[in-house]
Amino acid sequence: MGEQITLGEVQETLLIPLYGRAQDAQSRSSMLGDRKAVELVDAIDYDFTKFRGPSLVGAVLRASIFDQYVREFLDAHPDGTVVDLGCGLSTRFDRLDNGRVRWFDLDVDDTMALRRKFFTDSERYTMIAGSLFDDDWHDQVRERGGPVFLLTEAVLLYFPEDQVHETLRRWSTVFPDTLIAFDTGGHLMMNSQDRNPVFKAVPARMEWICDDPTTLQDFGLQLIESRTFAQPQPSVAQRWSAKYRYGMRLFGWAPPVTTYKLNLFRTKPVVSA
Ligand SMILES: C[S@@+](CC[C@H](N)C(=O)[O-])C[C@H]1O[C@@H](n2cnc3c(N)ncnc32)[C@H](O)[C@@H]1O
Repeated sequence: MGEQITLGEVQETLLIPLYGRAQDAQSRSSMLGDRKAVELVDAIDYDFTKFRGPSLVGAVLRASIFDQYVREFLDAHPDGTVVDLGCGLSTRFDRLDNGRVRWFDLDVDDTMALRRKFFTDSERYTMIAGSLFDDDWHDQVRERGGPVFLLTEAVLLYFPEDQVHETLRRWSTVFPDTLIAFDTGGHLMMNSQDRNPVFKAVPARMEWICDDPTTLQDFGLQLIESRTFAQPQPSVAQRWSAKYRYGMRLFGWAPPVTTYKLNLFRTKPVVSA
């Protein structure tokens, strides 16, 4: 029998990108080649087949765009620190490990308990059980010194606007002059959730609507790049199968795809007196 799981509502959504990556790994023109995702899907006792529709491949496209943001950070700072907040069962560390990065994966207790069944800490890789909304993890990350990259993929969307804004404001103070990557969804995307086949299969719903990521400058975040699936980095597009490379260029301009944005911000530097 497979691994039994009991996850909270938002936590259960981690199984959607996991299944998307597993399906991608089994296709002839795999974009991420995430074989570990196939192992995990096989090992977990869950009816993954109930997940259908474009969000599965969307999770793969999204992961590849965020991978590239992290890759570029590591090219500039090979000894830097990366923190994946709400990592789920992501295998990003395995994909991007350059042999020098210090990596933290954080997720809430039930998800982390599941993750620990399949992943282990190592000298440069540490899993933290906790909430991204709490401050407990800040010192652990800051103690290391040096440049930090914060990433939170498909997590903030599930929380109320006030809570997200307050957290972004705190991060921009605690981590000045730091790169932060996360996704935002506009009205058209958020209002079509009930028609999305993956959301027919889980009770969780996304809450935070952000039509324009530049408005997050009010919380100390300067927008550096904002991409939709129609605008991947050229090096990322090269790794996409032709179906998505050309398909997204042609059809990715239609809402609600255009209202889903994969953003890279930098927090304000400390202003010396
Ligand atoms: C849609 S999944 C995304 C998982 C992963 N980032 C990925 O893309 O594969 C949402 C994730 O948010 C995590 N999560 C929910 N509440 C959280 C919190 N307060 N702090 C950190 N992570 C949280 C869940 O456990 C889950 O792993």
